[in-house]
Amino acid sequence: MSKRTFIWFGVLVLVLAVVIPFAAFRAKGDGEEGETKVPASLENAQSLFVVNCGTCHALYSAGTDGNYAPNLDELLAPSGPAEKESTVKSTEARVLNAIENGVDSSTTPGRMPGGILNEEQAQQVSEFVARTAGEG
Ligand code: HEC
Repeated sequence: MSKRTFIWFGVLVLVLAVVIPFAAFRAKGDGEEGETKVPASLENAQSLFVVNCGTCHALYSAGTDGNYAPNLDELLAPSGPAEKESTVKSTEARVLNAIENGVDSSTTPGRMPGGILNEEQAQQVSEFVARTAGEG
């Protein structure tokens, strides 16, 4: 192999090994497990959701894809921006109720345990879900 070929081969290896994975990583945006960027006030709640709810529920804004329970984007999405403002409070109350008391309707096979979070965390997560559901 001539020296020139050798150098070009080295460059090629470098591109494949470093540049492509790096570009792919950057393309994911914030690089953190597919979560979307949320206002700083909701970041803590987003992490709480990933850890405590994400194994069962899919939610685009949290980057979770749990499929044991209803997809919360589909279940709670407002139909448009105008509706969002008027429904965010009631959605928040609905999510809070689910977290505090659990859900066990006879229509779906699974059930959701109540009391996973303390009161403050439950409120934060409810607000996060209500404000971001349906963003995907
Ligand atoms: C062990 C799995 C599991 C975990 C963890 C879990 N859920 Fe659920 N969740 C379910 C199941 C199953 C249902 C549907 C129950 C039914 O319809 O009978 C449900 C239903 C819901 C509903 C719908 C209630 C309604 O009004 O229709 C909301 C909202 C919800 N969960 C939010 C959350 C949040 C927020 C968390 C995290 C704090 C969470 N869930 C954690 C399993 C889970």
